[in-house]
Amino acid sequence: MKTFKRTTITSALPYANGPVHIGHLAGVYVPADIYARYLRLKNQEVLFIGGSDEHGVPITIKAKKEGVTPQDIVDRYHGIIKKSFEDFGITFDIYSRTTSATHRELASDIFKTIDAKGGFIQQSSEQYYDEKAQQFLADRYITGKCPHCGNENAYGDQCEACGTSLNPTDLIQPKSTISGSAPVMRETRHWYLPLDQHEAWLRQWILEDHKEWKPNVYGQCKSWLDMGLQPRAVSRDLDWGIPVPAADAQGKVLYVWFDAPIGYISNTKELLPDSWETWWKDEDTRLIHFIGKDNIVFHCIVFPAMLKAEGSFILPDNVPANEFLNLEGDKISTSRNWAVWLHEYLDEFPGKQDVLRYVLTANAPETKDNDFTWKDFQARNNNELVAIYGNFINRALVLTQKYYEGVVPECGTLNDYDRQTLEEFANVKADLEKLLDNFKFRDAQKEAMNLARIGNKYLADTEPWKLAKTDMDRVATVMHLSLQIAANLAIAFEPFLPFSSEKLRRMLNLSSFSWDNLGKIDLLPAGLQLGTPELLFEKIEDEIIAAQVQKLLDTKKANEAAAWQPAAVKPNVSFDEFMKTDIRVGTVLECQKVPKSDKLLQFKIADGMNERTILSGIAEYYPNPSELIGRQVCFIANFEARKLRGIFSEGMILSAEDADGKLVLIQPSATVSNGVEVK
Ligand code: 2FM
Ligand code: ZN
Repeated sequence: MKTFKRTTITSALPYANGPVHIGHLAGVYVPADIYARYLRLKNQEVLFIGGSDEHGVPITIKAKKEGVTPQDIVDRYHGIIKKSFEDFGITFDIYSRTTSATHRELASDIFKTIDAKGGFIQQSSEQYYDEKAQQFLADRYITGKCPHCGNENAYGDQCEACGTSLNPTDLIQPKSTISGSAPVMRETRHWYLPLDQHEAWLRQWILEDHKEWKPNVYGQCKSWLDMGLQPRAVSRDLDWGIPVPAADAQGKVLYVWFDAPIGYISNTKELLPDSWETWWKDEDTRLIHFIGKDNIVFHCIVFPAMLKAEGSFILPDNVPANEFLNLEGDKISTSRNWAVWLHEYLDEFPGKQDVLRYVLTANAPETKDNDFTWKDFQARNNNELVAIYGNFINRALVLTQKYYEGVVPECGTLNDYDRQTLEEFANVKADLEKLLDNFKFRDAQKEAMNLARIGNKYLADTEPWKLAKTDMDRVATVMHLSLQIAANLAIAFEPFLPFSSEKLRRMLNLSSFSWDNLGKIDLLPAGLQLGTPELLFEKIEDEIIAAQVQKLLDTKKANEAAAWQPAAVKPNVSFDEFMKTDIRVGTVLECQKVPKSDKLLQFKIADGMNERTILSGIAEYYPNPSELIGRQVCFIANFEARKLRGIFSEGMILSAEDADGKLVLIQPSATVSNGVEVK
């Protein structure tokens, strides 16, 4: 295997059209940060590049909806996203944006170089054009009926009702979302990257030379390559983006997927104007892209083809893409607000960044889609972070405080059990490295937690609190070794739980972290005064979790209500048929819940002639039935009597069913005589 001098780590540039959520963190930014921190602890030369992706159609759509400019949108979200990443300890060396001047210039230059080398072809095609708005329409700007499921509001690239990918020409009765008019076909000319011409070397480079890539990444590349690559347009008819730097390119901008990955390079250039090329052109630099699975084709095929066509750049050595994280069984969705937003999490769980980092790594979608649930979040916090790691650290520090006033005691002679315990963690460094080097962050974090398990077991088995009554020499050895394990934990967990490691470092008065020290048992010298013990993690109570679950239930309800549409109108009835239904007004005389039924209320109604009993399934919407006494209601007087729960119901009381399923009683707008007909 080739050895490299330095590593350039990139993480996908998120679109600046909304805040970031746990899916972003789990899929891309936490793994990238773990890796960057790990390499830095090993004293390697690392550059970790991030930034916002600020072009593309979704940003223009959002701007239009809000009546502001695309620049307003990206300014707003770039700030929010950048702050969330800082708050969660994502250690980018730079977090910049694709609207920067450096980026515009570099993206244009790369386009021009490829163009000058004959690396593009130009092709004409027919595309939808809005004659009223006088512009070509991006796929997202066209809606129509889905040919698969009949959804009237499918987009030109996808039907969100049935999930099918579409072409705008698939839509039945397409409509421009800009002017509402029916678009027409018009010819337009674009620049294309002829991926078909790159297929041969891509096949060799990925399928033969990079068999070590993760199976999900390798598999997706293989299936793209096996289908055969087609030229891809790298320009668009749009007014938001980087103008195509060529003659006859009026009104055309670079396709967002052409300029965005160049953002990694321009952000490096912005940070290191004099030495950026070392990180992108030197064969001794290893390039690693952290991304989500929807970005695989762009990072493994399209971007490498661009870099190759330009001619002076290195190609990625690995692309450890993750699958997706779901939330409580459903796909995370910005438009449906089905997400745990990072800025909201921090408001609601202040100081608990590491808990989320821990849970997202423990559940990382490394090989398949995974699910985040609040119950699992609570269980991992309470049963792992608190009960194992936190408990061990707390016992080690509190006992040292109690017996030695917080000073590391001398280590005495080791017995067999001590030696056996030390052997158990002697390999922790090698084991962790093997996992981290192969991007297996879940297992690596598990390995770090095992070290805490070893410490816990050591204290539980040696019971220094009992030994203290008889053998203080032995207590000194036990506490000395326990503190060395604690120091090891601070180092081992640093890439995963940086805030807690820093807290622990301070409590242990450890001067600094170095990966080289992992596995050693002389990290804290005898006589060292420790800091004040504090809890590393706190239990999360049931009510806190219930509130989060409720928040999601409320979102679900709101989504259902927003998606509600009136039911289709039933077949016509004639006047005579309608007149057969005898609807009348009556007054509620009595009303109570039917025993042992959650749904039924039993009414006694004054119907103008007599009194009658009617059962109605509205109990859950009227928790205080006696409040209904005295109200007038409408009921079907000639509804065939039926027995429910042993009670004869003589009619049907009319209610309206709201979008969320809630039933509300129908009542005349002014008091009328009991028994009058409703017509
Ligand atoms: O999928 C996305 O969110 C894109 N904005 C990722 C871009 S990655 C890179 F190319 F910048
Ligand atoms: Zn559909």
